[in-house]
Amino acid sequence: MANVNVKVNINVSLDPHVQPFWEKGYQDLSVSCMGGPSFEVAEVATLLSPKSKVLDLGCGEGRNALYLASLGCQVTAVDRSEAGIRKLQMIARNSGIQLKTIVADINSFNIEGEFDCIMAHGVLNYLDKPLSRKLISQIKLKTRAGGFNIFTLYIYNEEFPCTNEMKTSHYRNSFLPNELHLLYEDWHEVRYDKYVKWDSHPGIPMHYHPVEKLVSQKPGGDNIGRLVKIPISCLNTISNNLFHGISMGLTEEDVYALIGKPEVVDKMNANGIQFGMSLYNPDRPHPTVEGYTLQLWYYGKYVVYVSNGLVSGKALYYTQPIRIICS
Ligand SMILES: C[S@@+](CC[C@H](N)C(=O)[O-])C[C@H]1O[C@@H](n2cnc3c(N)ncnc32)[C@H](O)[C@@H]1O
Repeated sequence: MANVNVKVNINVSLDPHVQPFWEKGYQDLSVSCMGGPSFEVAEVATLLSPKSKVLDLGCGEGRNALYLASLGCQVTAVDRSEAGIRKLQMIARNSGIQLKTIVADINSFNIEGEFDCIMAHGVLNYLDKPLSRKLISQIKLKTRAGGFNIFTLYIYNEEFPCTNEMKTSHYRNSFLPNELHLLYEDWHEVRYDKYVKWDSHPGIPMHYHPVEKLVSQKPGGDNIGRLVKIPISCLNTISNNLFHGISMGLTEEDVYALIGKPEVVDKMNANGIQFGMSLYNPDRPHPTVEGYTLQLWYYGKYVVYVSNGLVSGKALYYTQPIRIICS
C-alpha cells in the first residue's frame, strides 16, 4: 500500500468552545504530543496478521497507527486535525512506513470496507452524543468476524471530576459509566479496565483522566478465545501519599528510592521508529525514538508507567489489573 493522504468533509471546523491543547503539540515537530503506542494495542497486535486492516479513528499524530503500520498492518488513520495528520505523514514517509491518512470529521464519517481492528483512543467523548452511538453501530458492523474494537474513554468520576481541559472539550458528551461496555454485551470481552490515569503532555502539566478501556472481539473467526486474561495480584502495595508523590520524568532509580521495586512488571517493546514519550526532552528535541519500551510496574491497585526508562504516567485501578496473553 502506498502512502496516501485523503481529505474529506472540507467543512472540518473546531468547536470554538474546544481549545484542544494537542493542536499546538501536533504542530510542534520537536515533541511527541501523546507519547508512544498503547499497551493494549500491543496486546491485540499479537493476534493480528501483518496484513491486517486497521482503522484508527481520531488517530491524532498517530502513535498507534504508526506502530501497527510498522508491524506491516494496512492502517487507515483518520483525524480532523490537519496538523496531526501532516505530522504522521511526515514521520511515516521519513521512516519508510506506509499507511493511509484521512482528514475528516468522524461525527459524519462513513466507514468504507471491513477491518480486522477498529480503534478510538480518547476520542469518542469529543463527538456529539447521538452521533457517537451511531458510529459505534457502524464500527461493530464494519469489523470482520474475530476482529477487534479497542476504545479508551474518558468517563465522569465523582472522586476525580473532570478537569478544565476536559470540560472545555465536550466532556459532557462522554459515555455514562459502563454504557459502552453494555453496547458490547454481544461480543467477547477481552479487556474492560476502569482506572484514573495521570500523565502530562508538552506544555500541559500533570493531570488526570478517569478512564474506561474496552477491548472486545467480534464473535466468529478462527482466533476467538486465543487471548486469555490473567489477573495480576501483588502483595506489595504503596500508600496513597507515596503514589501521589510520583512525578513524571523520574528515572527507574528515583522510583525505586521512593517506593521500592515493583513485585510485578509487564512490558511491551516496539522496534524501529516510534513516537517517544510525551515529555519534552531538550537533549533530544524530536517526536520519535528508535525503539520504544513501555513497562507497567504494579504496586497493588497502583500502576506506574515507565517509557524508555522514565516515568510517563501512573494509574489508580478500580478494576483488578489483568494481563492478556495469547494462548
Ligand atoms: C486526546 S486526542 C487522542 C489522539 C490519539 N487517539 C491518541 O491516542 O494519541 C483526541 C483526538 O481526537 C480528535 N478528534 C476529536 N473530535 C474529532 C472529530 N469529530 N473527528 C475527527 N477527529 C476528532 C482530535 O483531533 C484529537 O486528535
